Amino acid sequence: MDCSKAQKIGRIYDYLTAALALIALVIIYIDWRADSHMSAIGYLFVIGLVLIIYGVFFEPRRLSIRHYKEKLVKDPKSWIRIVFLSDFHAGGFRPKGWYERVAAEAQSLDPDVFILGGDYVEESASAIQEIKAISKVTAHLGKYFVLGNHDFLDRPQFIRETLSNWGLVDLTNAHVTIRKGERDVQLSALDDHWHGRPLIPPLRVSDEIPHITVAHEPDAILDFKTGDTDLILAGHTHGGQIRLPLIGSLAPIPAKLGRKVSRRRKFINGTPMIISQGCGETDFGARLFCPAQIVVVEIGI
Ligand SMILES: [Fe+2]
Repeated sequence: MDCSKAQKIGRIYDYLTAALALIALVIIYIDWRADSHMSAIGYLFVIGLVLIIYGVFFEPRRLSIRHYKEKLVKDPKSWIRIVFLSDFHAGGFRPKGWYERVAAEAQSLDPDVFILGGDYVEESASAIQEIKAISKVTAHLGKYFVLGNHDFLDRPQFIRETLSNWGLVDLTNAHVTIRKGERDVQLSALDDHWHGRPLIPPLRVSDEIPHITVAHEPDAILDFKTGDTDLILAGHTHGGQIRLPLIGSLAPIPAKLGRKVSRRRKFINGTPMIISQGCGETDFGARLFCPAQIVVVEIGI
């Protein structure tokens, strides 16, 4: 099935599940008002059960693709397509075949730049072998990575070396200038906010050239002020993994900024930030209204 068809079907699942849940809630409300309390509780139980079954067995099979367009200069002459993946958590709840599927979808998006945002493994560094397919994605202008907090639980240097041996460039506290057409963009990445030593302020070599920062934890934005960078790409939150329409994430978001940075595009401290929902799970192997995600950003420079 091609990407766009899978995306449309995924969205239909979301709308159908939300519509059914809403209809059921209205029935429960009517029952409750009519003093049929037992019947209302019964419906509530059924809805909960349906959502649990959907979240454990169906939604984890979905892979969504979220597109963004960011003009980093007023009058862009070139556009660079970044494909950004984060939070694989290999050795956790996903089989190896899942990462092969993620890699195939990422490749089909024909990236100029391919960026990995950390949390390659859930705990054991050896599990990184399960995501080897990801390293085979080709990109016209380069492939880069930074580690996430989970990668520090077991032999972070081994994970770093493995990714480097697979042909990805370690961008931790480093920068690179990428050229497309007549225009340049700088790309840098910060060491992990929890366990590493992120460079503050971040590496911005020139105010003339637009600048993108990759940081595993979205809280990194707290150390930025307007003009330090033009865009941050982050992961870490997994979107909360379990969400309900209108309510948002049911679990607390592991960030000082909390729900403000659970997912999507935010604008904080004068800086835009795009937060991925991740490609894997931690703590439990379920997702609800928050499918695994590939982020695609068209950068105008
Ligand atoms: Fe993570």
